[in-house]
Amino acid sequence: MKVLSVASECVPFIKTGGLADVVGALPDALARHGVEMRVLLPGYDAVLEIVGDGQTIAEEDDLFGGRGRVFFTQAKGVGLYVLDAPHLFRRNGSPYLDADGRDWSDNPERFAALSWMGARLVAQGAGGWRADVLHGHDWQAGLAPLYLRRAFRVEVPSVITVHNVAFHGSAPADRLDGLRLDRADFNPEGIEFWGQINPLKAGLVFSDRITTVSPTYARELTRPEFGAGLDGVIRVRADRLCGILNGIDTDTWDPKNDLALVEPYSDPAGKSANKVALRAEFGLPESDGPLCIVVSRMTQQKGLDLLLNSLSTLIGCGGQLAVLGSGDTALESAWQRAAAENPAVAVRIGYDEALSHRMMAGADAILVPSRFEPCGLTQLYALRYGTIPVVALTGGLADTVIPANPAALAANAATGIQFHPVGAQTLNLAILDLCALYADTRIWDQMRRNAMAQPVGWERSARAYADLYADMVAAQ
Ligand code: ADP
Ligand code: GLC
Repeated sequence: MKVLSVASECVPFIKTGGLADVVGALPDALARHGVEMRVLLPGYDAVLEIVGDGQTIAEEDDLFGGRGRVFFTQAKGVGLYVLDAPHLFRRNGSPYLDADGRDWSDNPERFAALSWMGARLVAQGAGGWRADVLHGHDWQAGLAPLYLRRAFRVEVPSVITVHNVAFHGSAPADRLDGLRLDRADFNPEGIEFWGQINPLKAGLVFSDRITTVSPTYARELTRPEFGAGLDGVIRVRADRLCGILNGIDTDTWDPKNDLALVEPYSDPAGKSANKVALRAEFGLPESDGPLCIVVSRMTQQKGLDLLLNSLSTLIGCGGQLAVLGSGDTALESAWQRAAAENPAVAVRIGYDEALSHRMMAGADAILVPSRFEPCGLTQLYALRYGTIPVVALTGGLADTVIPANPAALAANAATGIQFHPVGAQTLNLAILDLCALYADTRIWDQMRRNAMAQPVGWERSARAYADLYADMVAAQ
């Protein structure tokens, strides 16, 4: 089975969030199930710096406003097709935003180009390699299933994975021709959404299957509170939708062999040296309560504004908080102020992979108060490192944490704390629960052991993707 994965990010080449981890992990995880997955990625500066050049597979003189070509290379264990189109991807800024934090105005064309080339490689072959399935991720690959059918007129099956339904990649209707789209599809049953072109909707409507990154988020997507206006479209296709939980790379995230740690460990007791080091690194004093962490993008989704209001509850029971994150500038400033005002709170604004490992190892608990969370990866790293997740009961957070209710405690199964609905009051209660559980050393130790024993790798989910591709090909 051969699958072309089309995505805007992929570890270790370019990452802004968990999408990159998942796209980067799938090829290796799937290889064990007889699936050869290759990845098509935009040729951002960061990507080209790592991979250099390769064999040209396809080219166009006018690919949405300039010359573009796809080359193939094997890089860091991944079979990679790179869309080298300097007019679209070689610029200063992030994959999606300019240096001032605004969306690139030509994002629709940039990712239409990615989708177009994805469809073309699948329809016409990619240097002697022919995919059986096209697997696109999020709105950036949303137009690929449509181009496959409309422009290339082939029946190769396609699947779209929704990592976050909140981003649609919308474009004004007057860009239809420029995006190589057909007016006949610009209607509510097609790609139109409130008068605009909606690439995510195109993916939801034109792909054969829809997956998302946890079973609970799959159900949430069909409800107005979570569907970002697309819940109706998804409801209509509910028989084509399934949730497949993300895993994590258990080699990169392995407390036994993690070179970022002051002292690797295989037992929760081994965390103490890392805790001392983490306090020192963040300039936090000794304290009796739980040392908590946050590692997160600072956006509305992640609920970190709510956490600001719960700091006094945490500090009131001797707790401390170390935060690593970046994003929304108002939130960054609010957190910096909170750290300046509270000796028990320390904040690093920025992105630091190695530090995030040391935080997972040294902390007692991780706080994830997301308003919605399709899957979430940091609670999975935390489990593996024996750090107790305190999470909102939503999406993948609901599916990966076993809450410390009396039944789970009696069965020695609890791995964390969940609260619902997401709000200041419920978060405060969850923090009080955390402090009480932390104070009971027997229960706390059991929970940490349970956490470390959870399966958080890719085994089950890789099998689920492999089965899905097989079904799609069989249904053709
Ligand atoms: P999302 O993709 O919505 O941001 P996930 O939990 O799926 O949420 O993935 C976030 C990924 O980004 C995780 O690998 C997390 O460790 C990482 N991450 C987020 N912020 C930072 C940061 N400031 N420094 C290091 N890693 C970060
Ligand atoms: C998105 C979601 C996150 C998920 C990640 C990878 O960024 O916000 O919950 O873990 O994609 O699927």
